[in-house]
Amino acid sequence: MKHYQLLILTTLFLLTNCKKQPEIGLITEKAMVVSARKEASKIGSDILTKGGNAFDAMAATELALAVAYPYAGNIGGGGFMIYRMNNGEIGALDYREKAPMNATKDMYLDSLGNVIPGKSTLGAMAVGVPGTVAGVFEAHKKFGTLPIEEIIQPVIDLAKQGVIVTKKQQKRLEKHTPNFRKANKNTILLDNNWKEGDTIRYSALAETLSRIQKNGRDEFYKGETAKKLAQFLQDNGGIITEEDLANYQAKWRTPVVFTYDDLKVISMAPPSSGGVCLAQIMNGIEPYKIEQYKHNSTEYIQVVTEAERRAYADRSHFLGDPDFVEIPQAKLISKEYSKERMKDFSFEKPTSSDDVSHGKVEFIESDETTHYSIVDQFGNAVSVTTTINGAYGSKLYAPELGFFLNNEMDDFSSKPGEPNMFGLVGAEANKIEPGKRMLSSMTPTIVEKEGKLFMVVGTPGGSTIITSVLQTILNVHEYNMGMQEAVNQPRFHHQWLPDVIRMEPNSFDESVKQRLKNLGYTIDETNSPVIGKVDAILVLPNGKLEGGADHRGDDTAAGF
Ligand code: DON
Repeated sequence: MKHYQLLILTTLFLLTNCKKQPEIGLITEKAMVVSARKEASKIGSDILTKGGNAFDAMAATELALAVAYPYAGNIGGGGFMIYRMNNGEIGALDYREKAPMNATKDMYLDSLGNVIPGKSTLGAMAVGVPGTVAGVFEAHKKFGTLPIEEIIQPVIDLAKQGVIVTKKQQKRLEKHTPNFRKANKNTILLDNNWKEGDTIRYSALAETLSRIQKNGRDEFYKGETAKKLAQFLQDNGGIITEEDLANYQAKWRTPVVFTYDDLKVISMAPPSSGGVCLAQIMNGIEPYKIEQYKHNSTEYIQVVTEAERRAYADRSHFLGDPDFVEIPQAKLISKEYSKERMKDFSFEKPTSSDDVSHGKVEFIESDETTHYSIVDQFGNAVSVTTTINGAYGSKLYAPELGFFLNNEMDDFSSKPGEPNMFGLVGAEANKIEPGKRMLSSMTPTIVEKEGKLFMVVGTPGGSTIITSVLQTILNVHEYNMGMQEAVNQPRFHHQWLPDVIRMEPNSFDESVKQRLKNLGYTIDETNSPVIGKVDAILVLPNGKLEGGADHRGDDTAAGF
């Protein structure tokens, strides 16, 4: 061999071997919990180790997040759970917040009919009747196996011992402290200049949890906690009454189910738009044989964007609480319908959102929610997204009870055509009515392949939730990525209005972006430092589990 040939071979060898290997997430044999904080994942996983099932772990993880991750974890908010039992039985639990009985359609408008800034987002008027405690107890009552007292104990212990502040948490607290001061009469626990490495002890929350542990679900809805909560909200100018709390019920729903290639996707039904919208987008792109396009290439982004645009336009018009509005769900999630909707798409130029519908909106940066995924040692799976809507919800913190209240009322359409904090516009279907649930984008999802459990996935991110779940599924299914690798990939998002493709900054190929711009797409990399924070579990071909815990946060997988 000549010298230069040897040199070429050596260089080639080095290049191939230096190529960055995709990151592999935690691999376990049997069971796993992936959530936004390691303390919560561990408490959930420990419950599984004790012999509990995915529903016991759900109760533990949900409550542990309320302690360890007050940014979004909660007992003052609500959420959705999708489950799949080891025998293939599926279901959905809706513990979404509700509008109080004194709510009115125009409660966030001034006398001229204009939206009053901040009224649906900051302070007591923004709060919906919380559903989380009802959700936890409902799931446990139906499927749990360990005594609830045993499940809550480690959470109380954590609240008493305290939780260490992470670097990311310090930053979030710094950012939101000014609003804590606006929303609260007195200085709150989290407004204490907390620094990375400090330990925050949540003693008031520990006491509330101890009362719930002793008295059960009704403590929160009819007991001392309910009385104190209603009084506190009213003292702060809110309208939630003891009666609103007493009347709250979580509801079992039928999940949205659809196929994509050889996958069966099981996702959340209304009052979340998640499952319907995800079905519409996946049905829209399925005929294009996505795997022929390079990952995150111009063509891939075009097809996905155009399907997203059409689905979000429908979301805005058709979707709301199914207990109040009629939703043409079967039609919306049918393959023919999405095919028809995609008929005017061309690779030559973007469809204008004005042609899909009318209205102009400004995008406002989104805040927080949290998702966790669980697979237990029996093969049951649980996918839960839970929220107080914005970061620290309404910022209103009940000091005696030790938790933040949601600002979920902002997910209603305060005024037709007016964007909410996620830039989403709504219409009649999502107007405020007493006792109604506000429309959500939360998309807790479980995917089956060949009749077996394949993936458990979900994320926070407001309107970007649906598109982040979509891309994570496609990364695995179309591009053969592992779970962590799929979660790590940069994400983009289109929601009809505003008519822009949002992209995580500095993570997409320059030439791809340039080609999209040349075609007439507007790209916005300023608004979304991160899109979604996906926590997911993949069942590998050998039956082991791989966790995908999003490094965009402090998210962690735990299991055995
Ligand atoms: O239910 C919804 O769609 C919103 N309240 C979710 C909020 C959220 O994801 C905030 N996180 N970025």
